[in-house]
Amino acid sequence: MKTSRPDRRRFIISSFFFICFLCALASINEVRFDSLLNFGRCALTKTNSPSQIYNSSSTLIETQKTSSEDEIRVLFGILTLPDQYQRRHFLRLIYGTQNPVGAKVDVKFVFCNLTKEDQKVLVALEIMRYDDIIILDCKENMNKGKTYTYFSSLPEIFNDTDGVYPPYHYVMKADDDAYFRLQSLVDSLKPLPREDLYYGYVIPCPSMDPFVHYMSGMGYLISWDIVEWIRDSDIPKNQLEGPEDKIFGEWIRNGHQAKNRFNAKWSMYNFPEPPTRCTHELWPDTIAVHLLKTQEKWIRTLKYFNVTDNLKPSKLYHIP
Ligand SMILES: *[C@@H]1O[C@H](CO)[C@@H](O)[C@H](O)[C@H]1NC(C)=O
Ligand SMILES: *[C@@H]1O[C@H](CO)[C@@H](O)[C@H](O)[C@H]1NC(C)=O
Ligand SMILES: *[C@@H]1O[C@H](CO)[C@@H](O)[C@H](O)[C@H]1NC(C)=O
Ligand SMILES: *[C@@H]1O[C@H](CO)[C@@H](O)[C@H](O)[C@H]1NC(C)=O
Repeated sequence: MKTSRPDRRRFIISSFFFICFLCALASINEVRFDSLLNFGRCALTKTNSPSQIYNSSSTLIETQKTSSEDEIRVLFGILTLPDQYQRRHFLRLIYGTQNPVGAKVDVKFVFCNLTKEDQKVLVALEIMRYDDIIILDCKENMNKGKTYTYFSSLPEIFNDTDGVYPPYHYVMKADDDAYFRLQSLVDSLKPLPREDLYYGYVIPCPSMDPFVHYMSGMGYLISWDIVEWIRDSDIPKNQLEGPEDKIFGEWIRNGHQAKNRFNAKWSMYNFPEPPTRCTHELWPDTIAVHLLKTQEKWIRTLKYFNVTDNLKPSKLYHIP
């Protein structure tokens, strides 16, 4: 039972060197050492969850996704309908498997008031499971102000006096038949101003001048100051009816907003078939592909962008 003192000391010393060895090994790969404190971190950090940082007393400080000061925060709202359960399921796969670096992109599904009894159960369950739904105070409509309700509701929804300001640098309005590659989107946003910005695919299709008309409803993005302007100004309030993307462009023009504009054409485009002046071949330099109206078009697009390349090998499955 009794261990002699020298034995115990030898055990402690050799354990210490063993830990040092492990830490050194880890440091070769990724962990950076600045001080002795980091020995603790090395021993305590779960190396398989790189998005979490622990301090030396192994308290979870915060996730990297919210830690970086200059990280871009994007609200990515997909306007859809309550009954589109399958579509949301599919889009959760599409966006849940993308992990853009350098930004926090919150993908949310946006619709108006629920109208059916089954929705009250099914949508509530979805929220409990995924918490990625925004229900606006409106009656479902496409071109009668849903976009206005969306943008103008956000300042109040995300008005957290303790939270960071702005809650999001940018807010996207996207269609549910568009495929966005979030890393390309984030990379394109990095050099852009975070104020007074209107970003998207310029309409009409052959035009490359973002100061003439408006951005296509496939997906356009604005900075938070314009979201607040939409809430506060009378200009959008008094002009709600019409094709939502075109009307949006008119608010911006009539309100003399968005001195900063970015035309993401031809990184955004319509699916190549049937060919029109708005389409482009699938190509590597892509932020968004629009009009994915059939499963076949989605599959072709996802295949082209190699989205399943990172599937990890396992004995549990075999996919040829
Ligand atoms: C670790 O973080 C917690 C919570 O922020 C704090 O209370 C604690 O003092 C920190 N420990 C060290 C050693 O920094
Ligand atoms: C939407 O639902 C809320 C809460 O049930 C209700 O107060 C509001 O009047 C409804 N709005 C519309 C436009 O139906
Ligand atoms: C945000 O909250 C503050 C304090 O409660 C309030 O004064 C302000 O009007 C709110 N802003 C919006 C846009 O709701
Ligand atoms: C997809 O993978 C193929 C084969 O590795 C490669 O040639 C192609 O460039 C990749 N496509 C894209 C868009 O990265």
